[in-house]
Amino acid sequence: MKDWVKEAIVYQIYPRSFLDTNGDGIGDLPGIIQKLDYLRDLGVNALWLSPVYASPNDDNGYDISDYYSVNPEFGTLSDLQKLIGEAKARGIRILMDLVINHTSVEHPWFQASRDPQSPYHEYYIWREGLDGGKRPPNNWTSFFGGGAWERDEQNGLYYLHLFSPKMADLNYNHAPVAEEIKRIMRYWLDMGIAGFRCDVINVISKRTLQDGRKRFALTGREHYLSAEGCHTLLKSFREDVLSEYDCFTVGETVMVTPKTANELCKELDMVFSFAHMETDQINNKWFKTRFKPHKFFNVLETWQSGVAWNANYFENHDQPRSVSRFGYDLPLYRYYSATSLATVLLALRGTPYIYAGQEIGMTNGYFTGMGDIRDTESFNINALAKKLRFPEKFRWKLIMRTSRDNARTPMQWNGGANGGFTEGEPWLGVNRNASYINAEADENAENSIIQYYRRLILLRKTLPSLIDGNFTRLPAPAGVFAFRREFEGEAVVAVCSLVKNERALFKPVSGEVLAGNYIKPAGNEICLRSVRPYEAILLRQK
Ligand code: NOJ
Repeated sequence: MKDWVKEAIVYQIYPRSFLDTNGDGIGDLPGIIQKLDYLRDLGVNALWLSPVYASPNDDNGYDISDYYSVNPEFGTLSDLQKLIGEAKARGIRILMDLVINHTSVEHPWFQASRDPQSPYHEYYIWREGLDGGKRPPNNWTSFFGGGAWERDEQNGLYYLHLFSPKMADLNYNHAPVAEEIKRIMRYWLDMGIAGFRCDVINVISKRTLQDGRKRFALTGREHYLSAEGCHTLLKSFREDVLSEYDCFTVGETVMVTPKTANELCKELDMVFSFAHMETDQINNKWFKTRFKPHKFFNVLETWQSGVAWNANYFENHDQPRSVSRFGYDLPLYRYYSATSLATVLLALRGTPYIYAGQEIGMTNGYFTGMGDIRDTESFNINALAKKLRFPEKFRWKLIMRTSRDNARTPMQWNGGANGGFTEGEPWLGVNRNASYINAEADENAENSIIQYYRRLILLRKTLPSLIDGNFTRLPAPAGVFAFRREFEGEAVVAVCSLVKNERALFKPVSGEVLAGNYIKPAGNEICLRSVRPYEAILLRQK
């Protein structure tokens, strides 16, 4: 792996929600350009932009209708070029989202493919229905709930969609499709972007279309998860395109184990896995249980020890806010829990990903009913749960806790109208806590989360043990994660609590304080015997 890839600290932007500069209530590329100094000062050196391509927005850009153009809501191609250049001038690289499992049904390829005689017909997965077209071709279910096939009125055939019915899966058994994707990759890499976050990349190749084993979620998955064909495709992307550029790839990979992740990392630099994000749920993400820190820590440990290089994240545009989910989002411990999570994130081995707003401790959204929700997945799940006769109150509880809109509320820049995000009507309501949780207030707070992030980011840049050091978990009481990173005789020890009670350590830990959310300023030698609620500390040991 290249040094710059190893040293990257990635900040994810959901462009719709970052900063609106033209008053249409939707974040845009000029808004990102305006905040580049903020991002440089934070210390991040790569930005991953969620999709900015042309899209009818059934899934906010994950449904692409033209891979070669920028969604006018976000600006123009020249805005994007300007962003690439301005970011570069600040030492920041731009990563784009590569969504190639599916396209929007409005993509011209799909429109043409509806005609069975068209050369584009084979670009998608079209099949005759069973029972004279009454039933879908197989029993697969979609990631967004419900069946994975939709019948097209025009040709009477069914097409496969592992996500929304407005997003049709591409057919990688048809060679020209991969060639189209390579062309797209080259186009953006030639424009100066530094790499890709590859959306649901380990589902792109379907081995067969046989019925799947009936399951609570994702029936059919054994026929496509991390299939051999996916490796073949990724290998050809690497050999034919990526190897010619100095670039970065991170794959979003569903249901991977350390073993399958390591396999995928032969072709990608690193992968996002979900196991740690599944420790507070039963069966699927909608059924959450109480957060149990020890489960979370155990999974992190397994991945730290099992995978050569991890892509570490605790939140993104698909997950609830981490301070609400794994921490404590009320004033008493919001600062402490947000910074304790930050310590784990930035001290683990692997590349850290910070999701916009995480650096100021933004919390889950505040929604009063389905009328406040914008996310297609939440609508699907609500409809499905209604069909299953789940009572309305219960359905709402599921949506409030897990809806992806929790993390998509607009960035809270200041305490003014709409949190300073827009002068218009925001596309999704700004959280009502924006008056006191916002970047400006946090910057000036005595306990500032962003200042803590800056400190840790700086440490990652100056201490080789945080990049190259090995990972060893240390014994610690329940709710406390302690680990050591050691490289060439220098060691850093992190002790991080994710519980509200004080905890006595099994053994005192001594060292020089590099960072701490209770202990300030850094630099002193201490001997730590216990940790306070959500306390985190990073120590240097010689
Ligand atoms: C994963 C993306 O992160 C999510 O937002 C999207 O809905 C699905 N892939 C489908 O593209």
